[in-house]
Formats: sequence, structure tokens, C-alpha cells
Amino acid sequence: MLLTQSKIIVTGGPTREWFDPIRYISNASSGKMGVALADEAYKKSRDTVFIHGPINEYYIMDRPYRCVPVESTADLLAAVLAELSEPCVLIMAAAPADYTPVARSGEKIKKSDGDLVITMKRTPDILKNVAEIRKSRGLVDIFVAGFAAETINTEEYAVKKLKSKSLDMICLNDVSVEGAGFNTDTNIMTIFTAAGERIELPMQSKNLVAENILRQIEIGLSQRG
Ligand code: PMT
Repeated sequence: MLLTQSKIIVTGGPTREWFDPIRYISNASSGKMGVALADEAYKKSRDTVFIHGPINEYYIMDRPYRCVPVESTADLLAAVLAELSEPCVLIMAAAPADYTPVARSGEKIKKSDGDLVITMKRTPDILKNVAEIRKSRGLVDIFVAGFAAETINTEEYAVKKLKSKSLDMICLNDVSVEGAGFNTDTNIMTIFTAAGERIELPMQSKNLVAENILRQIEIGLSQRG
């Protein structure tokens, strides 16, 4: 399986989970890491698609690849599954909300003197869904690179995610370190592969991080034969 002959699906940005017409739960992902990866992916394969949550439109202005906007984690799951085919590489740099409000009010929730309690339920785990589909349909020509945004026990949690989400590779960023993670122009990554390798990248621009991640994916694909 060659990267140049594969479809490359990159996800980036946050998702939004609305609880009334004007308010939502989200996170600080800017989409910069995802855009850098999609730019780099397009250099390898013209069949690149960037599925993104709500991000600054300026970041993707005039991009030559297909951009698919989504809003919620459920939308992101549907979009990823619609694009999944063989051979393909999925790079999950998006930061999907893990919880969504159980109910969405049709009207603006009026403030009162008391606290506001919003009950939340889990959103679908996109990578776990992809792993199940790969297994049940016997899809072998799919390479999945996940991300891990952690603040404590970073390596332990990343390796756990690599295994529990059946990934080929995971890119860990310690998002508590300055210059890494959310809404920065740089990142600091440690890549773990299913084959047991550990590759440390120093602080570098997200473009350079993306270039290195694509290089590691290419190496991973070549090891598959
Ligand atoms: O967008 P930027 O501002 O440039 O910031 C980049 C980034 C910090 C968002 C990016 O580098 C990053 O770490 N993305 C992953 C964020 C995240 O959701 O990490 P997580 O550890 O919570 O999730 C682990 C993996 O599961 C991720 O690949 C995530 O996309 C995926 N996931 C998460 C939730 C969910 N419901 N389904 C998923 O598949």
C-alpha cells in the first residue's frame, strides 16, 4: 500500500455540541494542526479530503483539496465513515467533543438565580467505530493514525489509546506544555507505532510536524509491504 496511491482523510478542528440555539460545548482546537496535515497530505496524494469542525475559514482559503465542514461529533463520525474506502489513510487530528447535552432546548435557556445543570451523554468514539468496521468488514488496506491530547501520564495514556482504538500509530502532544497542542503555531510530538517504535519530535512548526508525521506514515506503510 503506497501513500501516493491512497486516499488520505485528515480531520481537524473542534466539534460543537449545542444545548440551546445560541450556546454550545466545544474546545480550543483551532484546526491549524489538521490544516498543516491536509496540506502535507495533498503533496503526497491528490485524493486528499479534509473534514473539519468549525474553524476560521481563512485557514483553508484556496486549498486545492476537498474540504468537508461538520459541526458535531456525530456529524464527524458520519463524514469519516462516508469517506472511508480502501486503500486509505485516516489521520484523526480533530478534537471531537466527548460529551453532548442530553437535550437541546429549542429556545434560549433563560438565566435564573440558581445554577444551571446540563446533563451530558457520551458522543460516539469515531476511532473505535472505524476499528470495528475494519475488523467486521476485513478491511486491511486502511492505515489509521490517531492523536492523543494529554496533560498527565501522557505516554501511558497515549499507548493505551493506541491499543484500545486499534491504531497503527498515535501522535501524542502534551497539551500542558507551552508551544504544544491547542491553538499554537508549533507543536511537540511523540509518535508511537503499533510496531513498538517511539519517535520524538522537538518543538517545531505545525507544518514541519505534519511533514514528519506523513514521513512516519510512509515508513509504516512500507513496513506492511
Ligand atoms: O487544532 P489545533 O489548535 O492545531 O490543535 C491541535 C490538537 C491539539 C487538537 C491536535 O494536535 C490533537 O491532539 N488532536 C486530538 C485531540 C483529541 O481529541 O485527543 P483525545 O486524546 O481526546 O482523543 C484521542 C483520539 O481519539 C484523537 O485522534 C481524537 O480525534 C479521537 N476521538 C476523540 C473523541 C471521539 N469521540 N472520537 C474520536 O475518535
